[in-house]
Amino acid sequence: MTMAMLPAFATTDDSAAIRAAFDETGVVILKNFASADECAALKERAFALIDDFDIDAHRTVFSTKTQAHAEDEYFLNSGGAISFFIEEEAFDAAGKMKRAKRESINKIGHAMHDIDPVFSAFSHSKKLETAARAVGLNDALLLQSMVIMKPPGIGGEVTCHQDSTYLYTEPESCVGFWLAIDEATLENGCMEFIPGEHRKPLKSLFRRKPDGGTESLKLDDAPYPEDRRVAAPAAIGDLVIFSGRAPHMSRANRSGKARMAYTLHMISAAAHYPEWNWLQRPASMPLRGFS
Ligand code: FE2
Repeated sequence: MTMAMLPAFATTDDSAAIRAAFDETGVVILKNFASADECAALKERAFALIDDFDIDAHRTVFSTKTQAHAEDEYFLNSGGAISFFIEEEAFDAAGKMKRAKRESINKIGHAMHDIDPVFSAFSHSKKLETAARAVGLNDALLLQSMVIMKPPGIGGEVTCHQDSTYLYTEPESCVGFWLAIDEATLENGCMEFIPGEHRKPLKSLFRRKPDGGTESLKLDDAPYPEDRRVAAPAAIGDLVIFSGRAPHMSRANRSGKARMAYTLHMISAAAHYPEWNWLQRPASMPLRGFS
């Protein structure tokens, strides 16, 4: 990994410079985008959602049906819900939870930006609209939200991928917004990017199969040049914005420090959203922008 720095900005005032850096690198960081109080409110709300989540009932559902099928269904229905995904290492060999519930969740998703009042207010804020416009997304629809918990000790690794693989539009328009709710460092698994690599082809598509379930379709076999990875350490409140084509990853969190982040993915309202994307919203929940 190189020690290069990713482009960072203290304000959104110079949107031309932000846009130029985003187009060149595929990622920009807006420092101090959210206040400590805003981050604390999002964190408190995420914990409240987890406190209300019945992890034992959830596990029972998955163990009484064909597990893989039940998990698939739960995941595929989460585009219009607030759903909970559990860390792989959360349970010991005997099936007993190793940690407190708050430290056993991998992520919460994928529609809290429209369903939960606290996340909705932040997600649809003027401030985020300004950030979206700064990277050229002038007709944004808020497609997906996640709280990524990355809990201490067991927070899983995320291998290198491009988000447009999972949130594809024609033409491609997906942009990721990643807010540090805790400080993120290399020790607790901050984001890592390969600058400029967003100009390379999309490597795969993840889609629903017509007869149920999902599949990955390989488009390009070239490996990611992971030796050119650059870390994106973030202070509380920093916002990392990245192209849906920008390859990124994060290491496992083996540290004692939490690394919570809130992510939003937006697409252009003018782009076509294929019905084979894994994430589909119920007809009663059309996508919203900032108005
Ligand atoms: Fe991602």
